[in-house]
Amino acid sequence: MAKRRATITAVGHYAPSKILSNADLEKMVDTNDEWIRTRTGISERHILENGATSDLGVGAIQAMLAHRKIEPTEIDIIIVATVTPDMFFPSTACIIQDKIGAKNAWGFDLSGACSGFLFALHTGAQFVENGTASKVLIVGADKMSSITDYSDRNTCILFGDAGGAVLLELSEDPEYGILDNRLYCDGAGGPFLNMKGGGSLNPPTHETVDKRMHYIYQDGKPVFKAAVKGMADVSAEIMERNKLTGDDVSWLVPHQANLRIIDATADRMGIDRSKVMINIDRYGNTTAATIPLCLSEWWLSGKLKRGQNIVLASFGAGYTWGATLVRWSLENPKP
Ligand code: UT7
Repeated sequence: MAKRRATITAVGHYAPSKILSNADLEKMVDTNDEWIRTRTGISERHILENGATSDLGVGAIQAMLAHRKIEPTEIDIIIVATVTPDMFFPSTACIIQDKIGAKNAWGFDLSGACSGFLFALHTGAQFVENGTASKVLIVGADKMSSITDYSDRNTCILFGDAGGAVLLELSEDPEYGILDNRLYCDGAGGPFLNMKGGGSLNPPTHETVDKRMHYIYQDGKPVFKAAVKGMADVSAEIMERNKLTGDDVSWLVPHQANLRIIDATADRMGIDRSKVMINIDRYGNTTAATIPLCLSEWWLSGKLKRGQNIVLASFGAGYTWGATLVRWSLENPKP
């Protein structure tokens, strides 16, 4: 019997209109445009002024539904990858379910930080492939500005807000779709990138607020080293497992945390820069949204084509990291 294969049948993204540029940040902390661009590749980020992560997700879903005309009532499951849920509970998946009127769906949030989208994609594909769901909505959305300390120059230059969404369905042709996944985590990396306050370990108090524990903490250097190794190793691993060379891969779709990490991964895979999706310059690091945001932009532009092999790769807090091999099945949007 041929393998049942999940595939991406629709994609959409949303970024709020307000821009926070490097020049704006120069007025807020001791930094400069040249340092930010050369050390990270970022020029500007989008910031959600009013609203929450669910609104970023809903914006992405609406963009997706503009191309794929299905009713929200047809969706079976909603999985939201995020580290900035609207609230601890109810889940952002429930909030999105209500906002879009997906009356027949159940769903949940998934916490995989910058690898959250890949973790959610692999999870959602299981339901499609085992036949228990036919339409699974995967959302990667983060309002990173809600946990960014705009007095800390080490982190505030890095992050932005956005949402991305994809629909998973059964592939008509098992040669297309999500072909392979390699996902990892290593909790020993936790101390280097985290948000200490607000959970059961450090419930919110005046002290946790005074100590700025409700913001992102990052020790950049060890995270950078681990990210270069983790993202490059797992991307090379997924190519070896599937006997692919750089020539066989049409696009690397990397998590957008730092252009230097992306470059190192592309080099290790033997992939030319012209085959790497990069939009970190315009969005910064939007955590769970980076990969679907790239997929949506490149698909809309017509550059991501049916039949292309693409490698999605990520590294983030946890540590979490992974790579997913996809043979893209979605035809280009109608002009
Ligand atoms: O998505 C989740 C995973 N996260 C990542 O993958 C991020 C990984 N880490 C990084 O991308 C990089 O470590 C950063 C971009 C965060 C920092 O770059 P770096 O090259 O590792 O810089 P650094 O932290 O070693 O700092 C170098 C210098 C320091 O000054 P001294 O000590 O050499 O005098 C910093 O104080 O740059 C200084 N610096 C800045 N200068 C201007 C740090 N931040 C800034 C800033 N503007 N914003």
